[in-house]
Amino acid sequence: MNRARRKLEHIEHALSIEQERANGLDDIAFVHQSLPNIGTNDVQLHTAVGELSLSSPLFINAMTGGGGRETMAINEQLAEVAKACGLAMAVGSQMAAIKEESERQTFTIVRRVNENGIIFANIGSEATVDEAKRAVEMIEANALQLHLNVVQELVMPEGDRDFTGTLQRIERIVRAMDVPVIVKEVGFGISKETARKLVEIGVQYIDVGGFGGTNFARVENERRNDRLMYFNEWGISTAASIVEVTQTAPNVSVLASGGIRTAVDAVKALALGAVAVGVARPFLKILIEQGVEALIDEITAWHADFTRMMTALGAKTVSDLQRAPLVISGKTHHWLTERGLQTKLYSQR
Ligand SMILES: Cc1cc2nc3c(=O)[nH]c(=O)nc-3n(C[C@H](O)[C@H](O)[C@H](O)COP(=O)(O)O)c2cc1C
Repeated sequence: MNRARRKLEHIEHALSIEQERANGLDDIAFVHQSLPNIGTNDVQLHTAVGELSLSSPLFINAMTGGGGRETMAINEQLAEVAKACGLAMAVGSQMAAIKEESERQTFTIVRRVNENGIIFANIGSEATVDEAKRAVEMIEANALQLHLNVVQELVMPEGDRDFTGTLQRIERIVRAMDVPVIVKEVGFGISKETARKLVEIGVQYIDVGGFGGTNFARVENERRNDRLMYFNEWGISTAASIVEVTQTAPNVSVLASGGIRTAVDAVKALALGAVAVGVARPFLKILIEQGVEALIDEITAWHADFTRMMTALGAKTVSDLQRAPLVISGKTHHWLTERGLQTKLYSQR
């Protein structure tokens, strides 16, 4: 199967598979404050992701490109939305365009539409330094996402089977790039052990890409006859993964994604310590089924919800939100306790 066809199949399956809520964020509850002493006009949604300054903590996560005209149209429309709403946006893996010149335009359209926007390049951790540089140059990217997707590859019929040397390749790329390098998962979460290894080689940005949203084991299982069902439930929930990474790597800028489905999911992820929150499948679904204006309306509504919730919590900024007390219960509490992570830090701050 060629790469372009696979890109289209991913979209088709990712949109048709409904994943039950499993992001762990339902285990998080804010402690209501009756005297917040601020108004909605005091709330500022901008955030700093290391050296990058974003006007919203929400971003459109990596999805597509490299699948011919259809993926170019999607990227063009996503870029229009990102520009209208002031969101950062990641493109899908650019390896297709590095291997095949004719696919470049499916990615470069994003920069053409959104000349001054914050755009993340994206490539797999199998990339060489040269390929990583070409991905960034192709779209004049402000940062590079390097994705880790071992389980997806193992389930993918034509996927990689050897993952030796990935950390060393990431290290070479991090050293060679002059834009921030965000190491991201694609829906299986980053553990504290992985975070520690990444910090040791100089990684300063991690997108936890946790379990509970788009499930690439299920997407790839749809594409094979002998399904590997045991991988369908594999992964660290987004809530647990944010805590695993923020507590282990306090100097890392943590981005949260994986199953962020509502504005309250996003606000909880920020309160747990993420500096930005990425959404993929739900935004693509709205775009494809209802169009650009509907997606702009949806994101505008999320922003209004962020402002209301932050007002109720007395949080003028994302940093203030990270000091709002919250209680972690249920499965996520159990997981974090067993893993030796602190839960009282949040309930008693
Ligand atoms: C159709 C589709 C294609 C994707 N392609 C990529 C990709 O090329 N590179 C990547 O890093 N992540 C890719 N992802 C993963 C997302 O960036 C994100 O990590 C994951 O979908 C979890 O977010 P969600 O639950 O909001 O969809 C893709 C997701 C979807 C839905």
